[in-house]
Amino acid sequence: MRTYTRSAEILRRNREFIPGGVVSVNRAAQPEIAFARGKGAYLWDEEGNQYIDFHAAFAPHILGHNDDSVNAAITQTLTEGRSLFGSGTTAQEGLLAELFCHYVPFVDSVQFLNTGSEATYQALRVARAATGRSHVVVMQGGYNGWHNDVACNLMTPLAQVGPRVSPGEYRFCPISAGIPQEHSQLVHPINFNDLDSVRWVCERYPVAALLTEPILQNIGIVQPLPGYLEGLRKLADEFGFVLIFDEVKTGFRHALGGYATLAGVHPDLAVYGKALANGHPISAIGGRRELMDLFVSPDASKRVLLAGTYNAHPVPTAAAIATITRLAADGGAAYRHLDALGERMENGLRSLGLTVARQGSAFCIYFMDHKPVDWHDLAGNHDFAHDERMRREAIDRGVYLFPLATKQCSISLAHTEADIDFTLDVLDQSLRAAVGNAELASAR
Ligand SMILES: Cc1ncc(COP(=O)(O)O)c(C=O)c1O
Repeated sequence: MRTYTRSAEILRRNREFIPGGVVSVNRAAQPEIAFARGKGAYLWDEEGNQYIDFHAAFAPHILGHNDDSVNAAITQTLTEGRSLFGSGTTAQEGLLAELFCHYVPFVDSVQFLNTGSEATYQALRVARAATGRSHVVVMQGGYNGWHNDVACNLMTPLAQVGPRVSPGEYRFCPISAGIPQEHSQLVHPINFNDLDSVRWVCERYPVAALLTEPILQNIGIVQPLPGYLEGLRKLADEFGFVLIFDEVKTGFRHALGGYATLAGVHPDLAVYGKALANGHPISAIGGRRELMDLFVSPDASKRVLLAGTYNAHPVPTAAAIATITRLAADGGAAYRHLDALGERMENGLRSLGLTVARQGSAFCIYFMDHKPVDWHDLAGNHDFAHDERMRREAIDRGVYLFPLATKQCSISLAHTEADIDFTLDVLDQSLRAAVGNAELASAR
């Protein structure tokens, strides 16, 4: 077992000044490792241990850590004297917007923010302003950020959320304290892949928006069943709600423009982040012009406030331009390469007898006999303890999978076939060790 003495010391000191010692509580994980460096597909911790990274900081690193072309673009931007001016527009933000609208065919115009949570917040506000309605539909097992409308019903224990309901809705199960009870009445969590429940909610409440990841990627990889996204589009048109795809994880990882362009289903609004700038903090909201124009409506009673000191900061803006340019080169060769690496990983895992869900470069191993269709399916069938034991063993052998069951893995352009083959070997060993440890534990 690796030991993490320096990491433990850093965490102990940080706890004196930071609650919990970590700046995003989602990053708190066992083993507690303080990382010091990342380059390409690799990470090094403060102890000097090397890892092949499949966590990718919750998915942004599509080109790999500290990609040379992105770093060069950032250096050039700073050398040119670009700064955060905070007054008027810039040619640089215009260039990014133009690139964005070019590659995302259903986006007429776009605005840039800093984080995915800001983008989902603004999307819901636009939907409410456009429809004059307040209720929103979200997915059990989806994650859309930390604000009041969406901080609910992620990996809710079945004992808390109750048995499967269809058609119908689940009760709002907050993942944060401090959400007003009245506010939660406006949010309706339902199953993913369940069109009947969307209709059920729409027939009972004035629904402004349905917000969903097109693939649930915060509980692994839960793909839409054939016809599901098309069905959402039809229901949005029938009931007049705004269909919002949260492409913060799927966007630019699976295709330029996101999963919507692969699926051929166009939402009214979509939000992006993560892979858009290969790990630099920028997010986007884009969509139909009449919705986006609410940010500048001449009618003040309809105008949606969009403001942010750091919006389209030159550093992440340069990173986004460089990332999109790389991903678009040679007619999207990057995606073909990522898919080939993903396929190699998937085939290797299947030959170990595992259930694998994969979309391009993102994959998840499930310890159940089929790929899940929604949270209840997953929560009722997946062996969570075994999953976490395997992850722990892999980390010990130099392959970093985030050590929380069902968290998806992301391959980057910096990974090589040799990295994939090494990882398959490590996972094979880790699975055997995980079974051995479980047998030891049950014999005690
Ligand atoms: C699908 C999805 N939406 C929104 C968010 C929130 O993004 P951020 O953490 O940048 O606020 C996340 C973050 O993991 C996400 O995965």
